[in-house]
Amino acid sequence: MDNAINTMLAHRSVRQFTSEPVADDVLNEIVRCGSRASNTGNMQLYTVIATREEPLRSELCQLHFGQCATAPLWLTICTDVNRYHHYCRVNGCDEPFSNLLWFTSALIDASLFAQNLCLAAESRGLGFCFLGTVNYNTEKIAELLQCPKGVIPVIAIAMGHPAEEGRMSERLGNDAILHHEVYHDPSDDEIRLTHAVRDNDPFNQRMVEENGTRNYCEIFTTKRYPRSTNEAVSADLLSFLRKNGMIG
Ligand SMILES: Cc1cc2nc3c(=O)[nH]c(=O)nc-3n(C[C@H](O)[C@H](O)[C@H](O)COP(=O)(O)O)c2cc1C
Repeated sequence: MDNAINTMLAHRSVRQFTSEPVADDVLNEIVRCGSRASNTGNMQLYTVIATREEPLRSELCQLHFGQCATAPLWLTICTDVNRYHHYCRVNGCDEPFSNLLWFTSALIDASLFAQNLCLAAESRGLGFCFLGTVNYNTEKIAELLQCPKGVIPVIAIAMGHPAEEGRMSERLGNDAILHHEVYHDPSDDEIRLTHAVRDNDPFNQRMVEENGTRNYCEIFTTKRYPRSTNEAVSADLLSFLRKNGMIG
């Protein structure tokens, strides 16, 4: 197997880091690798903000509820139509990219950028953890990082030199996720079978005991991501996208 495939198959999130900083040349290299990802129209409608200096680093960590507190490098990847609109203005062109279509396109571009960057980081021996909490405090994070109109934090990554190996977590097999020709809507038995890898995983079974839920699935629907929180966070996010002018 080549190096890229080895790196991908060995992936695991890392949440504990040594105090060793990430060198500037490594940061520049992984951002260059991120930039090589395909992107809509080659317009690169994303920006990455690297936060390393105190007190900003700790303030940002607090907005992620204190997760990954030892990470020396925080990467906040934003959808960014501000830069392209500026390019439009200096060329005397219309500025037509503040709408759902372009938020979605920019979000896809930002995700591809992020994953390429992360693979490069793992190739260089760095560890990282994506933090979905960026969606819970988007407006406050945008304020802290001084994001202008048209710039929306969508992906957060805590990164550094690993102080733990990280756990190799299970994945669904291809029989669950790969459909041939058309969508195959699975039967109840097929769902049970394909998700057995998840339900029977010893680590996940310990989580069920610790959480006191009926099964692994219920951890996600009642503890981690309950409906009430999902709806409240979605409402805040939508309101911020409108206030920011990203969508109408
Ligand atoms: C968009 C996204 C958001 C995530 N948010 C968090 C988070 O807030 N906290 C956390 O500890 N891990 C977070 N993770 C990491 C996932 O929990 C992890 O990728 C998943 O459990 C699979 O484990 P692995 O990456 O070690 O293979 C996030 C991952 C992604 C892609």
